[in-house]
Amino acid sequence: MAAISIKNLVKLYGDGFPAVNDVSLDIQDGEFVILVGPSGCGKSTLLRMIVGLEDITSGDLLINGKKVNKVAPRQRNLSMVFQNYALYPHLTVFENIAFPLRLAKRPEDEIRSRVTQAADLLELTEHLDRKPANLSGGQRQRVAMGRAIVRQADAFLFDEPLSNLDAKLRGQMRTEIARLQRQLGTTTVYVTHDQVEAMTLGDRVAVMRKGVLQQVASPRELYDEPVNLFVAGFIGSPSMNFLPASVDGAKIETPLGRFLLHDERKVAAVRGHQLLLLGIRPEDFEDASLVPEEKRPHGTLFRARVDVTEWLGSELFAYVPFEAPEDIRNQLRDLSRELDSDQLRTQLVVGLDPESTIHDDQDVELWMDTSAVHLFDPATGTNLTRDEERATELARHAEEMRLEQKRGHREELGEVDRAAQAARQDLDERPDPTSRIEPA
Ligand SMILES: Nc1ncnc2c1ncn2[C@@H]1O[C@H](COP(=O)(O)OP(=O)(O)O)[C@@H](O)[C@H]1O
Ligand SMILES: [Mg+2]
Repeated sequence: MAAISIKNLVKLYGDGFPAVNDVSLDIQDGEFVILVGPSGCGKSTLLRMIVGLEDITSGDLLINGKKVNKVAPRQRNLSMVFQNYALYPHLTVFENIAFPLRLAKRPEDEIRSRVTQAADLLELTEHLDRKPANLSGGQRQRVAMGRAIVRQADAFLFDEPLSNLDAKLRGQMRTEIARLQRQLGTTTVYVTHDQVEAMTLGDRVAVMRKGVLQQVASPRELYDEPVNLFVAGFIGSPSMNFLPASVDGAKIETPLGRFLLHDERKVAAVRGHQLLLLGIRPEDFEDASLVPEEKRPHGTLFRARVDVTEWLGSELFAYVPFEAPEDIRNQLRDLSRELDSDQLRTQLVVGLDPESTIHDDQDVELWMDTSAVHLFDPATGTNLTRDEERATELARHAEEMRLEQKRGHREELGEVDRAAQAARQDLDERPDPTSRIEPA
């Protein structure tokens, strides 16, 4: 098991381009951390530096407190699973999983026992004699994970392991990886560009942009208390809406109309600013006729012209175009591009109760939960209204949950584990018949 500590890591490629720019991150023993961000933001580079496949330009990498900047990949005892599985087509599933053990010249009975155990865990037992070509994408991905597991590495590193699978299978494998990680309790760093994977898998999620770490937090904190415009726009689907807003004390004027900010803390936080970007998530809207009485006081009513609606059974989305000054329009378009999103930014996406009868090309009355707005400085992107107290509370809660789960896992596996460990030790202590043969 391993704690991984990343201190001010920088990676400059040959052309001087900082692919990873001063990233610091402490990953606890047994923690599941996700690195997420748009394509090209430096996720793979950072992962490859951890595993030792990429030189570190500056900064330090520590595993269990020991500096390993110059330690060879194999000595770091980390296991990497790639997007393209990297299976050997001429070997059976058994031999593919056994490969790292054969390489380490482990005795035959140990290989058999470890491969069988991993196959059992991954539900591959029936397929051990087959060749990769005859397996489905999901099964191949499981073989690749089997190979990572048998090595009993100190940490697993995944680089977009599910992006070659179709959407349904991706969902299934996501659940399996989560289950496996909990069962094994192994420190895991998982790279993805998919915010849904990030939100559902990790204890903590590290959001990167252009080589720079933006925020590291639990999924809930990222969603509720994003530090800036980039994180706010990246996390959540459909993404947060951004509107130009001019502020005067507690009065806010937006293309949707005027309203009052009731939260004193937020009013104080934006004092001195005039033009801001207001962020509000699609689910913080409702068809005015369907808002429960007790919720009404938290929000404001406004009239709007709905352009298009999408009824999905469990939800209804309505699109409301709005006007914005050119510079704001440009800024929102750039953000949209950077987030790899095809969402038009001068169009509000509102999520409504599927019972609503609002339809295309209709003038409607909508309700917006004004207690849920975030206000961003358009120049720096900083979320001026982030609630630091609540963020600290969410972080504490998430860490407690993780530790509780870890304790539960230990107790649950306690008995089984002790037996397995004893068996393993027994194997390890047996003389290895190949150990005296010098490598060629
Ligand atoms: N071997 C390399 N030489 C030069 N530039 C590279 C190399 N590998 C990656 N880059 C650049 O570094 C940046 C980060 O790449 P990468 O870590 O692969 O991003 P991600 O995994 O987030 O998509 C990109 O701009 C990419 O073009
Ligand atoms: Mg990558």
